[in-house]
Amino acid sequence: MSLLNKIDSIQNKFSSELSSATNDSLKISELYNKYLGRKGLVSVLFSELSNVDSKEKPIVGQKINLLRNNIQKTFDKLDLNKAKTNSTSNVDLTLPGNHFFEGNIHPITTVLNDISDIFKSIGFSVFSGNEIEDEFYNFEALNIPKHHPSRDMQDTYYLNNKKLLRTHTSASQIHFMENNTPPVKIISPGRVYRNEDISVRSYCLFHQIEGLYVDKNVSFSDLKGVMEYFSKKYFGKDVKIRFRPSYFPFTEPSAEMDIYWGLESKSDYRITKGTGWLEILGCGMVDPEVFKAVKYDSSVTGYAFGLGIERIAMLKYGITDIRLLYEGDIRFLRQF
Ligand code: DAH
Repeated sequence: MSLLNKIDSIQNKFSSELSSATNDSLKISELYNKYLGRKGLVSVLFSELSNVDSKEKPIVGQKINLLRNNIQKTFDKLDLNKAKTNSTSNVDLTLPGNHFFEGNIHPITTVLNDISDIFKSIGFSVFSGNEIEDEFYNFEALNIPKHHPSRDMQDTYYLNNKKLLRTHTSASQIHFMENNTPPVKIISPGRVYRNEDISVRSYCLFHQIEGLYVDKNVSFSDLKGVMEYFSKKYFGKDVKIRFRPSYFPFTEPSAEMDIYWGLESKSDYRITKGTGWLEILGCGMVDPEVFKAVKYDSSVTGYAFGLGIERIAMLKYGITDIRLLYEGDIRFLRQF
């Protein structure tokens, strides 16, 4: 077929294809590309022009130009010329869209919030302490003597000018009592730091929730009652708990509280060291030495407790490596 005939046949083909495509903007934009696109039929005609005898070139060239202008005008009239650049008419609404991930709450934050809510519901208010402390608040006022091993450089991160990163939220107790008279009923959640070897089970920072209740006639049975209430609310009403005598310099008597985790699976054995019981907090009656440090008189008594958050989060969500909680790996975090 000569090029002139080809031009005619393309013109005819275009007209017939266009008439069957009216009102279908997707088909029309496809037609636009088929005829006027960069590799469309009209461009092909132009490229074939080089094979035409040079005498005929001006005529054939003109005819191709005419064809292109006609087709373009047709599209202009349809006002679908826009289809070329305006993407909305190219949008295929049936294609699956891009998925946008929403951020989610970090498991540690969830546990902190859930536990805080339980204590708030029974009258504890939240007090935020400082992460940077000095020896007085972190140790001395809590009756932790100079030679106590936890003061060792190996455990505590010391900063310049006698400051340190708090090793426990118990330091908040002292700040609060210094500035408030009894009755005191607070929890203090936050980060604490210890210079420990990083492993599956320990990290250089972790979270605690401190609790403190000081008033007249506060007794150990009040402490037990509140711990039992908290445990049932958080772990379910059938939870079993037990108190074991323990030692903390800032409480006397002191105890640790375990919950019964069970011994059903191999991992239960590992987590509970074969006992079925798991320690989740330390607690006790505030030592009179602590009251002395904050200048409270001897007419008050109180209890305190300190909960480790990471252990609870790991149990609750089946997390086997503590480091995952701090690495910010999006594949891990998206699971919560
Ligand atoms: N501060 C202790 C720790 O980090 C936990 C603790 C134990 C806090 C007994 C208390 C308490 O308030 O009474 O290991």
